[in-house]
Parts: sequence; C-alpha cells; structure tokens
Amino acid sequence: MSYIDLNYKPSENDLICRFFVEPEGNSAIEKACENIAAESSIGTWTELSTMESEIYERLGPHVFEIDTASGEVLIAYPSDLFEPGNIPEILSSIAGNIFGMKAVENLRLLDVEFPEKLARSFLGPRFGISGVREVLGVFDRPLVGTIIKPKLGLNSEKHAHVAYESWVGGCDIVKDDENLTNQDFNPFRERILKTLGMRNKAEEETGEKKIYMPNISAETEEMLERAEFVKENGGRYVMVDIVTVGFSALQTLRKENLGMVIHAHRAMHAAFTRNKKHGISMLVLAKLSRLIGVDQLHIGTAVGKMEGPREEVVEIKNAIVGDWYGLKNTFPVSSGGLHPGMIPALVEIMGEDVIIQAGGGVHGHSNGTKAGAMAMRQALNAAMQAIPLEEYAEKNPELKAALDKWGKP
Ligand code: 3PG
Ligand code: 3PG
Ligand code: MG
Repeated sequence: MSYIDLNYKPSENDLICRFFVEPEGNSAIEKACENIAAESSIGTWTELSTMESEIYERLGPHVFEIDTASGEVLIAYPSDLFEPGNIPEILSSIAGNIFGMKAVENLRLLDVEFPEKLARSFLGPRFGISGVREVLGVFDRPLVGTIIKPKLGLNSEKHAHVAYESWVGGCDIVKDDENLTNQDFNPFRERILKTLGMRNKAEEETGEKKIYMPNISAETEEMLERAEFVKENGGRYVMVDIVTVGFSALQTLRKENLGMVIHAHRAMHAAFTRNKKHGISMLVLAKLSRLIGVDQLHIGTAVGKMEGPREEVVEIKNAIVGDWYGLKNTFPVSSGGLHPGMIPALVEIMGEDVIIQAGGGVHGHSNGTKAGAMAMRQALNAAMQAIPLEEYAEKNPELKAALDKWGKP
C-alpha cells in the first residue's frame, strides 16, 4: 500500500506539511517519502499483518507533491490523526521519529498548514499586539527594550538598579536574560520585589508605563508558583524560554490564564532551526508558539548577531501577525546583537509592530546604561521621522556616542 498520490487534492480538514527531503545514498525520493508518510502517521518500516484497509483509508496520509529538483515534498494528513489541543502529540507525529530514519540523509520540516478545527483547539495569545499596546499605552511606534547585562552575576539590588537606569533612560521594557532564573547570587523572589519596586519608581518619574519581564523558566509547578508571585507583586508580564521548558509546560502556563503577558524567548531553537537541510524551521516553531498562545516571540533581527536572513525573518513575522482563524496575533521581537545604529534598518524591515531589544547595545554604551537607553530612543525617534541618524545625532550626544562606538550596519 502506497502513500504517494500525486493527484490527491487536500481537503480543508487536512494538516499539510512541507518537508525538504534528501534521501539516503542513491535511493529514490519516492522511497523516502513512503517511509516519512508511514512513520509520521500509521505505519512503520514493513508491511503489517495487523493493518486494516479501513485504517489506511481513514487515517492514511497522502504525499501529493514531490519536487525532485528542490527536494520539497507536500504531505496531507487527515486531521483525525491528531489530538486537538495537544502540541506534543502533533509533533510526535509530524516531527518525531522521521528525523532519525536511515531512509533520509537529511529532513527538514519547513512549514505546517493547520486545518481550522485543529488550530482553534488551542487558546492562542490572550493579549496579542493590541493588548500589549494597551498595557503599555504606546500605539504608534515600535517598543524599545533591554536585557540586563552582564547576563548573570549582578545581585538583585544591582539588577534592579540597572533596570531603573534603563527605564528612566527611555526603555519601555526590561527583561531578564534567558539563563537568569533563581541563582544564589540573584534569588528570583528578591529580584522581583526589588525590580518591580524600581519599575514603580521609574513610572512615577517618567510618567510612562514601564514593563519588567522576569524569567520564570523552571520545572512547571515551580514556574507557575513564580508566575503567581510576580502577579501578586504587581507584575504584568512573565518571560519563558519556550524550547527549554517544553511545549507541555508552555501549554500549562497559558492554560493558567493568569492575565499576564507571556514573552517567549527561543533559546536552543537554533539546535534544530539553523541547519537548512535538517530539523524544523523557525517558521514552524513560530506558528506553534502562536497556537499555544505566546503574546511576544523572538523571531530574529536580520541585522544583528544571530543568523536568520531578512526574507526568513519577514516570513516569520507575517505568520505571527497575520489573520489566522481569528486567533490573536503575536508581537514580533527582534533581539540579539542590536545597537542604536541598527534601528532604522530594523524599522524598515519590520515596520512599527516590532519590539526592539538590545542588551550590549544599551549597557555597552560608553556613557553607561541610561545613556544607552536614551540613544536607543533617540535612534527610534530619528527612524520614525525618517531623519538620518548622523543628522539627529548632532543634537543628541547619547546617540552620537553610540554611533561613534558601533557605527551603522
Ligand atoms: C518507536 O516508537 O520506538 C518506534 O515506533 C518503534 O517502532 P518500530 O519497531 O516499528 O520501528
Ligand atoms: C536576548 O536575550 O535577547 C539577548 O541576550 C540579547 O542580548 P544582546 O543584545 O547583548 O545580544
Ligand atoms: Mg539573552
């Protein structure tokens, strides 16, 4: 029994996967496709005495497009194969054993189109872009954020002070770094109390809403307790390393529906998204994240230190902000190797609905954190008025110092 049917027309109830397939050795791509389709659905490596034609008819996927030149293959899966609301199960099918099969030299899951019934079995974001903008009261420009640096090492007092300097210098948002959680030198609960206290002080002094995104990444029950602690002490956001905590934990956090904005850091994603011939694309990870319901997601910068070409970043942005069965959208976050000189290019690529974060690009400023934050806002002001940075820097010394140190891309 074959899964290849090049005349098959997918139904609206099918889940469709686009794969890049490189067969092992000299074997035909069709043979690899048969193995992929079987192992990701109902079959295995050999004929089965226990298989029933009714199962094959009802649940068998269809390989309906094979482009031997590009290696791109489309497979349509009956949605009854999948449990609504269950990301782990969906991935154990379409992104599970198949990556380890000898039948493929390389295999990459490039994109997944979810049928409406399955997509709407997930909560999606609670806030989305408009909800986040309501929380901050900022509607007409990108948001500017920073990550406290050094990544680790400051005690909670110094952490809170650096956050304060960032906010009064002009950052809307301050986040913990992805590997800062509850270390002895900076205990979580102590950090939250001190940093939220500084957030309140910065709000009073600036008249602007300020956001602190504490990293609650941990074992699931501990993560929920930390989220509750943040909420009880006036926090409006939590930050989660969604890949290292896992999709099940992320679904649990979203299901708790604590009323706080969920910021998704994607640390570890490049272990499987970076290799363009093998693994899972960031586009797929972004769609899963929006389904589960993160409000903000790091998607790359196209200009900073992390890899990810411009067209890929834009494709991912469009996937998380576009209309999708009525699910709220997810705020794109660009972070990693950014500094004020990169802001005009970033705004040109991403538009206004982007959260721009810089760690080194703020705390590495020659005149310190507050000046770094000021330089970021000055660069954004210039970009929003289409004024060249060098010209704007003539009257804004903090921006000038940043351009002197880091230049423009
Ligand atoms: C697994 O889950 O380990 C595989 O599905 C084993 O099944 P197989 O022996 O038919 O490969
Ligand atoms: C992040 O967590 O987004 C990165 O640590 C950004 O840090 P950088 O701006 O210094 O690269
Ligand atoms: Mg970081």
